[in-house]
Order: sequence, then structure tokens, then C-alpha cells
Amino acid sequence: MKKILITRKLLKESEEKASKIFDVKFNSNDELYSQSKLIESSEGYDAILTSLTDKMDKETINKLPDSIKVISNFAVGFGNIDLESAKKRRIAVTNTPEVLSDATAEIGILLILGACRRVPEGIQSAKESNWKWSADYLIGKQLTGARLGILGMGRIGQKIAKIAKALGMVIHYHNRSKLGEEKEQGAIYHDNLKSLFSVSDVLSICCPATKETENLINKETLEYFPTGAVITNVARGDIVDDEALIDALNRRKIYAAGLDVYKGEPNLNIGYLKIKSVFVLPHLGSATKYTRTAMANLAIDNIDEFFKTGNCRNKVN
Ligand code: GLV
Repeated sequence: MKKILITRKLLKESEEKASKIFDVKFNSNDELYSQSKLIESSEGYDAILTSLTDKMDKETINKLPDSIKVISNFAVGFGNIDLESAKKRRIAVTNTPEVLSDATAEIGILLILGACRRVPEGIQSAKESNWKWSADYLIGKQLTGARLGILGMGRIGQKIAKIAKALGMVIHYHNRSKLGEEKEQGAIYHDNLKSLFSVSDVLSICCPATKETENLINKETLEYFPTGAVITNVARGDIVDDEALIDALNRRKIYAAGLDVYKGEPNLNIGYLKIKSVFVLPHLGSATKYTRTAMANLAIDNIDEFFKTGNCRNKVN
């Protein structure tokens, strides 16, 4: 039986599944391992099932024992893992694509609705009972007829496009390459950011965090948007230059933001908390029982497949 280290607590059913296939070391109190604890705990193990909270940087990967052959990330994003260092050490890295697209797209839509319809202000007023109906009370932005720009038209972007279209939004997108007609579903392709942002009343960030996308929403690119645009991010915090977005929100260049992901999670830039029109969630993208179970099953199966065949469909390095 292969020995695997699972760095964070999984749902009960998933831990049971893992125990049937592997000799598993669990993290029963779910404390985030320090880099040294992670290295020490993987001594004598064949694989590590990591979560997005584990920072598998170059230094950590270089110190892993030679026995580790696979790092199976319990996430579709793998910005927490230095792929190159893993490759140099012949450690396969895998992720969990597809299974979380629907749940994450739901949160993507929630961010759009929450930011456009002033949900944070509404919740606060309702709870404090300090509101009274009037014709101009908490007027927000209507989605019907608004243009939604999707940055990164992968599976999550496509699902957001589908739901947003049903809400009456007009879909524009930018992606590394233009999609075929069937996947596009009538969405309008832009081959550069400036062109996309200049027609985006609302932006949904759905692209992976890479060196190329780091701080892609910044002081300069924010100026491309129509005044009063709404920015939402269901992907990764690293894509946004927080100070630039906070400044644009304070100047009302940007009307509102809806954010589920942040640089340096779980902390978020305090500047966001001071702005009434910022709708924040604590990284809930894939947080449904169905999806977290499917993700864990896939992360476990990825390790199993790798040891059985020497390869894995979801290998990313
Ligand atoms: C969630 O954020 C993921 O990347 O799976």
C-alpha cells in the first residue's frame, strides 16, 4: 500500500475513501502545517495531497524527501505549487479540474449580483433595521442588458457566461485563444485586454494565476473600463493589484467589487473593508458538499492513477 500524507482535513467520506486505497496520515485537527512540519511529516511517504493553503514553494519542494513522487492538489488552481521545482525533482503535480466548475460559477454569479445590487449595504441596513423604503433607496445596477466581460473563458468562465446570458447580460470575453462557436454560445471575443475592458460594464475574473496574469488588474488597466464598472474575482487574488482597485473604488471610477479570493488569504486588504460597495466572501468558490467530495475523490484518484500507470490525466507539470 502506498503511503500518503493528507495535509488538511477532508470530508469524512473522502477520508474513508482514501483509507481504503492508501496508508494515510491525516491531519485530524486541521492545523495548517508550517513548511518544516510539512517536510518532516512527509518523510517516508510516497505522495502528498495538498490544499490551496499549502505553500509548496521552491524551498519546500527542494527539501521534500526523495520518496515523494506526487503532489496532488485539492484544487483546480495550482499557483500554490512551484511546478518547475517539482518537475526538476521528478514529482508529478496534479489538480482537480471540471468537478468544481459549476459550484465556482455559482459563486461567480453571486459576486456579480452582490456587487451590482448593493447586497453588503442591504444586509447591513436590514439587520440594523435602519431603513425605509423609498423610490431611490439602495439603487443598484441592473444586470439585464449590461455587458459582462469574462477574463479567461475556461470551464468556469463558460458556465458563468451561460448563467449570465440567461439573466439577460451580453457576454464579451478574452482568452488566450478564441473558442469555437459551440463553446462561445454567442459571446463576443476580444483578442486583447484593452478591447475587452473598454466594453465591460461588469468584469468576471476567471483566469488562472500565473506570472503573466499577476496584477493584471492594475492602475493602468483599470482606466480602460467604462466609469462605473464593476469588478468581480472568483479566480485568485494575485491577479488584482489591491491598492489600484481600492483607489479606483474610492474615486468611483469603479462602482463596486465582488471578491471571493485575495492576496495573502485569509487576510484581505483592509482598504476593501472600508468601502461600502465591496462585497466580500471567504473563498467559497467550490464550497458545496457535492463539489468538495468530487474534488477529494479526484485528488485521491489522481494519486492512484499515477501509481498504477506512471502517469495521470490531470498532471499539470
Ligand atoms: C479553488 O479555488 C480551486 O482552485 O480549486
